[in-house]
Amino acid sequence: MASEGPRPLVAGNWKMNGGVAMLKEPRLLAAMLKDVKLKADVMVCPPAIILRRVKSVLKGTRIKVGGQDCHWNPAGAHTGDISPEMLKEAGCTAVIVGHSERRTNHGESDETVAKKAKGVQRAGLKAIICIGETLDERKSGKTLEVVSRQLKGSVPEGSTADNTVIAYEPVWAIGTGLTPTTAEVAEVHAHIRSELGAIMGGEGAGVRILYGGSVKPSNAAELMGQPNVNGALVGGASLKASDFLGIIKVYA
Ligand code: PGA
Repeated sequence: MASEGPRPLVAGNWKMNGGVAMLKEPRLLAAMLKDVKLKADVMVCPPAIILRRVKSVLKGTRIKVGGQDCHWNPAGAHTGDISPEMLKEAGCTAVIVGHSERRTNHGESDETVAKKAKGVQRAGLKAIICIGETLDERKSGKTLEVVSRQLKGSVPEGSTADNTVIAYEPVWAIGTGLTPTTAEVAEVHAHIRSELGAIMGGEGAGVRILYGGSVKPSNAAELMGQPNVNGALVGGASLKASDFLGIIKVYA
């Protein structure tokens, strides 16, 4: 049973996977979801180069499309970067910012993530802001402290329930097959909810807090059933329509 709260979102992050050959997966997913009544929104976030193709495959379906990262400016001399406005033009309704792979591989700080989130919101899109502790931080009992610091630093002023989604993704759970216990997930999500109240006031109650990190069809119901878990950010298991469907169906 899924927990109560804001309408959930199940978003698939393809990361640097999936070229044209993968277009069959969203096509299949849309077909499989056609007659399923869902109590959640569904989104796929493909690599930018095939965004428009995915968008066109999903035309007329309820599956939304999102970006994986962006620059904070609307345009300018930023070789290799993509602006939130360009992602909007390509059909995106949201952009993931501050994923741990960006924070680690590209040295993105909370300040950078907040600038990106602000840019996404300026463009009229939802910022899916990722946070989460490393294994060392968890082992030394610093999880809640880290999450608080990341939230305070990464959620820009003026954020609302409509333009902001938080994804709690413990770094050690991403792509490893490991997940926190349900009690640990519930504890961190309750903490995030309360911190959002402190940062955003009343808006905080309506923000969707996704769990991410090794979500699979076999553990989705249990993880999504925890209080304050309003959906999932899914990596590996979003690449195959049948696996992703197994997770989405928690909300059928
Ligand atoms: P995973 O990735 O589901 O493959 O663990 C999650 C993520 O990085 O968003």
